[in-house]
Amino acid sequence: MLNFQNILDAISVQAKNTQEKGKIASYIPQLACIDKNKFGIALLDKNGTLFRAGDTSEQFSVQSITKVLTLSMAFDLLGDDLWKRVDVEPSGDPFNHLSLLEQENGKPRNPLINAGAIVIADILVSKLKNPKAEFLEYVRSIANDSSITYDTSVAESEKSTGFRNFAAANLIKSFGNLENDVDTVLDFYFHQCALSMSCEQLVNTFYIFANRGKCLQNNQHLNLSQIKRINAIMLSCGFYDEAGEFAFRVGLPGKSGVGGGIVAVFPDNFCVVTWSPGLNEKGNSKLGLQALEKLTTDSGLSIF
Ligand code: DON
Repeated sequence: MLNFQNILDAISVQAKNTQEKGKIASYIPQLACIDKNKFGIALLDKNGTLFRAGDTSEQFSVQSITKVLTLSMAFDLLGDDLWKRVDVEPSGDPFNHLSLLEQENGKPRNPLINAGAIVIADILVSKLKNPKAEFLEYVRSIANDSSITYDTSVAESEKSTGFRNFAAANLIKSFGNLENDVDTVLDFYFHQCALSMSCEQLVNTFYIFANRGKCLQNNQHLNLSQIKRINAIMLSCGFYDEAGEFAFRVGLPGKSGVGGGIVAVFPDNFCVVTWSPGLNEKGNSKLGLQALEKLTTDSGLSIF
């Protein structure tokens, strides 16, 4: 019989013993000081039973994983009008590239690359009275955890070096696809990326994507159609120019962040989160990818 705990324990041992752990993101200076040897994996099955191994209660910078949550909130507020502002096609490009944005008149390829997430941030800034506070409240309510918060030192650190995001936001603005001023939108974007969460907090939050929009408290946060669309975008766009490789090796919708986290979901089955700060050359966690490949291979559970 399938035993998730044995599989997670084996994955954790393998990760600790792997010498080549990838490279920590240093373009956001505050992220550079994380210990490369951290590793955690947490899995919540469809009944809400938690399995975990390693450093699963330690918080880390969630970064691009939050793009899924801002997308969820904006989609709920705006409905299908959202897709007039951002497309749903994989980019095949790194997360921070600008060339397609120029060619395609300021409409980002998808909401999970930086340019697309900046447009989503603009939507939330327009729609919400207190965007940072209300987004935080949204995440806390899904996670049922009021201790989740922003690490403002990470937000400030990114603001001081986020030249490519300033370039992207200005380019989008020049095409008329940004309603608010660049500094306000990026202040929100840098804060959303600077949310700190642990594997356990993330798995509780992303459980809604494996559980038809309902959180562990059985509250409906998104409807089935919204869940279908967001999971589809995670599958095709969640890993930038490595989305094909992730689908090929892991076979689940998911999303990575440069803090070294990865979330992945198997609808109606489980949600899983890994954290290992070392990244591969595409900006995705090296050991996280390896761990999730082992999970779906050893359990025989992938959407394919
Ligand atoms: O905008 C950035 O570059 C970061 N705040 C987020 C990038 C990120 O996490 C890419 N993910 N793998």
